[in-house]
Amino acid sequence: MSSKQMVHMNQGQGDTSYARNSSFQNAEQNRMKSLIEAAIIDICSSNSYSLPGKILMADLGCSSGPNAIELVSTAVEAIHSYYCLQLQKPAPEVSVVLNDLPDNDFNTVVKSLVKLRQSDTPVVVTGIAPGSFYERLFTSDSLHLVCSSNSLHWLSKAPEDLTKNHIPAYDMDEHARLERLPIVSEAYAKQFRKDFTLFLELRAKELVQGGRMVVSLIGRRSDVTRNKFSYLPGIVAEILSDMVSEGVIDKTKYDSFYVPVYTCSGEELQEIIQDEGSFSIMEMQVHDPRTDMNTALGTPSRFVNLVRSLFEPILVQHFGHVIMDEFARTAERYWSLRLHGRSQEERTRNHLAMLAVSLAVL
Ligand SMILES: C[S@@+](CC[C@H](N)C(=O)[O-])C[C@H]1O[C@@H](n2cnc3c(N)ncnc32)[C@H](O)[C@@H]1O
Repeated sequence: MSSKQMVHMNQGQGDTSYARNSSFQNAEQNRMKSLIEAAIIDICSSNSYSLPGKILMADLGCSSGPNAIELVSTAVEAIHSYYCLQLQKPAPEVSVVLNDLPDNDFNTVVKSLVKLRQSDTPVVVTGIAPGSFYERLFTSDSLHLVCSSNSLHWLSKAPEDLTKNHIPAYDMDEHARLERLPIVSEAYAKQFRKDFTLFLELRAKELVQGGRMVVSLIGRRSDVTRNKFSYLPGIVAEILSDMVSEGVIDKTKYDSFYVPVYTCSGEELQEIIQDEGSFSIMEMQVHDPRTDMNTALGTPSRFVNLVRSLFEPILVQHFGHVIMDEFARTAERYWSLRLHGRSQEERTRNHLAMLAVSLAVL
């Protein structure tokens, strides 16, 4: 696995696009709104520097479709309500910048950005910053607010401890898989710590004094040990292993496939933030996503479209386009069996927790 993995979401507006399969993630964005509104009021009324005449805000990992502008729209509306309606003062001018990886469907995003520019109180100008959020994206001391939803569980790369030593992430043999699980989980946890620490360091340089950051990511419940494979990546691996058994995919190719996603616990996240030391935690929310997930994954076809919207680019990069029809058929069969074979409680039982955290630069 030499080249960088294509971890962007499925482009366009079709049935398997991220734009059409992101209601689950949108529910999480809605829960972040109160955190963003509070952060805006804090920025606007901060005593540590004079009221900003201009505000620069960014959404990192915006993807495409309706969710791309959801968080920044909330922030712009909060500025309007706070300055114009509550304080009766002229609002600061606002620059909104959306970030994602260069292969993201920015064509669609740019069209939705126009909606934000229609506001004249405050004046809003918009832009795009393509690149990895594990690199510098903005000049130092320039940002007032960073938002990011449902993105930071994506790692910068699969853990090298596994790729270099040819250790499969999800061995088809259950015994071997369970035996290796502690090594695999440890490698993923280590990579997450490294990546999230870097993310915090970079944003701390870019944020102004008094700047705020509100991020959410998919994590795992704190009562679940780290030695569990991440939920959706585990399901993708099971579908692929069915395809190996049917001779559609080569076993060696399967063994060298890694989904660069790690689901941390709230405690792990808190510890990394404290160890890095640039931010204080203003508020942290942990939410059980089962109800939203049941809706999003309620039928086999919805399940297949959602999984394709998230993982098709890395699957195609590794296995080629040729496997996708068979992947969709196998996934549909897999989910039908799961829906029919288990009780409602069993089928929705997973280890996930949605984590949202509001941070202030120290
Ligand atoms: C599940 S989508 C979330 C999109 C949107 N924020 C939402 O809540 O619906 C995750 C996004 O993170 C982006 N992403 C993953 N790794 C990234 C990185 N290193 N830098 C920038 N964006 C990244 C992906 O391309 C994808 O668009």
